[in-house]
Amino acid sequence: MIDFGCILSTFTPDQEELGKVKRLSDDLIREISKYCQGHNIKAEPILVGSSSRGTSLKGADIDIFIRFHRSYEIREMERLGLQIGHAVLRNGIEKYAEHPYVSSYEFGQKVDIVPCFIINDASEKLTSVDRTPLHNEYLKKHLSDAQKKEVILLKLFLRRQGIYGSELKTNGFSGYVTELLIVNFGSFLSTLNHLSTLKGNLVIGDPNSVKRFESPVIIIDPTDPIRNAGAAVSLTSLSIFKLSSKAFIKNPSEDYFGMGPIRTPRKNVDRGTKFFLIKFRRPDVVDDIIFPQVQKMISTITRASENLGFRIINWEQFVGEVGDNVEVLLELEYDQLPAMKVHRGPPVDIENALSFIEKHKGEEIFRGPYVKDDRVYAELKNGNTEFLPSLKNILEKADLGRHINKIKGEFIIERYEGKPPESEVTNIFLSRKNPSP
Ligand code: UTP
Ligand code: MN
Repeated sequence: MIDFGCILSTFTPDQEELGKVKRLSDDLIREISKYCQGHNIKAEPILVGSSSRGTSLKGADIDIFIRFHRSYEIREMERLGLQIGHAVLRNGIEKYAEHPYVSSYEFGQKVDIVPCFIINDASEKLTSVDRTPLHNEYLKKHLSDAQKKEVILLKLFLRRQGIYGSELKTNGFSGYVTELLIVNFGSFLSTLNHLSTLKGNLVIGDPNSVKRFESPVIIIDPTDPIRNAGAAVSLTSLSIFKLSSKAFIKNPSEDYFGMGPIRTPRKNVDRGTKFFLIKFRRPDVVDDIIFPQVQKMISTITRASENLGFRIINWEQFVGEVGDNVEVLLELEYDQLPAMKVHRGPPVDIENALSFIEKHKGEEIFRGPYVKDDRVYAELKNGNTEFLPSLKNILEKADLGRHINKIKGEFIIERYEGKPPESEVTNIFLSRKNPSP
């Protein structure tokens, strides 16, 4: 038997933390109201997010939104939002989501102060954060006190699998999505039951709204029928959720509610393959910028390498904090090509099939051009037979995004025979195992 009560008390805020969060948020709300009155700003603060709804895990952030009257211009609202944020959070730093906002740690508690516009209905919204206070109203009506505990269990379960959070670093299930799952399925266990037998996409919502979307998880936001609250969830995250649900139902255990994924690297032994490590200092940009850029870099490399005839069978990434490194690890079946490559030409049926022959006239040709079946072929000299110079070439030419482009010159690129080198990325590579535990 799993002691859910014990799990809840271990991983949810204790009385001391709840008290601190309450005092801190009350103080901040009061200070913001006072500031707005004193400066004649038509705006009012409101506590949103999990700590306002009793669905937070230990150490969750405090989300305070400042709702501005609609008469403000967007720029003006953003400017005032930052001004207020800095006035009440003395060590606040500016971050950027839909709008710039101020974030800080107050007595060890993360606080975000985000400006938005007042709306009564999502159709009026000017920016996507405007609907966040509507989430609170919806969940207040549809999520019972007992179900809040179910939300927390589900958040813990997802966090253990490494798929809690909608940031681009995780591509998982946001807090709000977790709450919508419980509203829809009723409880933690019935959510897992559903996922354990689900085939294909996870779809919740009115069919008329659902059909606008094309993604692995479609959960229509009940406060806004034209938004998919589950848009951030990747196919891999959905699959991990399905498989871990099967595993939990087959063999329920408290181990599914620990902190993050368990990382126990396998032994680093010779795999008979080739490894390449690309390493550079992380540019000073937020996670939501660097993660997609690294992702894009990897897909560029993979695509270009396969066009040249190299097969990348695995890759892994490590993105350190600002000041630390980014590491990309590639594993190839082989990193040397023969001197000759068979170049497939057009079908003989096409109008200018002869132009293929014209085109390759001057080149060094091993054999051909010749006809086989319905096409022309030529056997040509391979440009780069080694992967390392090809990789350098690819990286030099590719657009890797603004921030990575700037530091291309400082890339360290190394080749390893058989097994990957000792490094952060290798630890992640050798730890990959889903579901966890
Ligand atoms: P948070 O990311 O802080 O989520 O966003 P949360 O619900 O408080 O969950 P935890 O406990 O911190 O992980 C605050 C609110 O902003 C809206 C939601 O209403 C959320 O509750 N939001 C946030 C979204 O609608 N979409 C997002 O991708 C992120
Ligand atoms: Mn939050």
